[in-house]
Amino acid sequence: MISIKTPQEIAYMRESCRIVKETLEFVGKNIRAGLTTKDVDDMVYRYIISCGARPSSLGYEGYPASSCVSVNDVVVHGIPSDRIIEDGDIVSVDITAEKNGFNGDAARTFMIGDVSEEKRQLVRVTEECFFKAVEGLCAGTPLYDIGYAVQTHAESFGYGVVRTLVGHGIGRDMHEDPSVPNFGKKGTGMRLKAGMTICIEPMINAGTYKVKFHRDGWTVTTLDGKPSAHYENTVLITDNGVEILTL
Ligand code: MF3
Ligand code: CO
Ligand code: CO
Repeated sequence: MISIKTPQEIAYMRESCRIVKETLEFVGKNIRAGLTTKDVDDMVYRYIISCGARPSSLGYEGYPASSCVSVNDVVVHGIPSDRIIEDGDIVSVDITAEKNGFNGDAARTFMIGDVSEEKRQLVRVTEECFFKAVEGLCAGTPLYDIGYAVQTHAESFGYGVVRTLVGHGIGRDMHEDPSVPNFGKKGTGMRLKAGMTICIEPMINAGTYKVKFHRDGWTVTTLDGKPSAHYENTVLITDNGVEILTL
């Protein structure tokens, strides 16, 4: 079932999304080589709690941390650990926070120190994929136009678009209907409605789109070991456009 948010619910979504945005800004200012991915998670936990919110991922289907911290070839769902972040790494940090019963969800890929041109371009194009997807998006747009826009842009650079992980609706639950794939055929799928809140989250690989799911139940890496980037925002659909709630 796809939920249409009331004005009051949208106000709560705005608040949770603002907290997520601020947490990611705080991480962006403090993340550096020498920290462990667990240090990053501690930062996230403390910041979210200080806002009177709750990290939704903590305990979600048994997930053990407040953030996903995914380094280089880790596509998403990197579990914070004693892994040390190194100069030249790209590190995607994905967080979800809940307050007043509503969730905000966003991810950024941070570049640490002296990053190769190959990785820089990947990070830039992944962000561009998101903005291509929201360009012209409004109530009435067919759902798979989002994936079409992401896929067209990513593949024009020879990149692989992850198929087995997708964006999603969001609200009282972190993951709601509909699924929002990063690939698809223009003009197909249900038409978006005003008051829907969805997460658009391109996961783009430098090489093959194929990924490997690890035995820890969470970690997803690229099959060829090449780097991957992730960029996500929670978006409100309106009659004349979108409001990017986590920006
Ligand atoms: N934030 C992720 C997403 O974008 C989901 C994280 S799953 C968790 O959908 F278990 F780590 F929370
Ligand atoms: Co997320
Ligand atoms: Co998401």
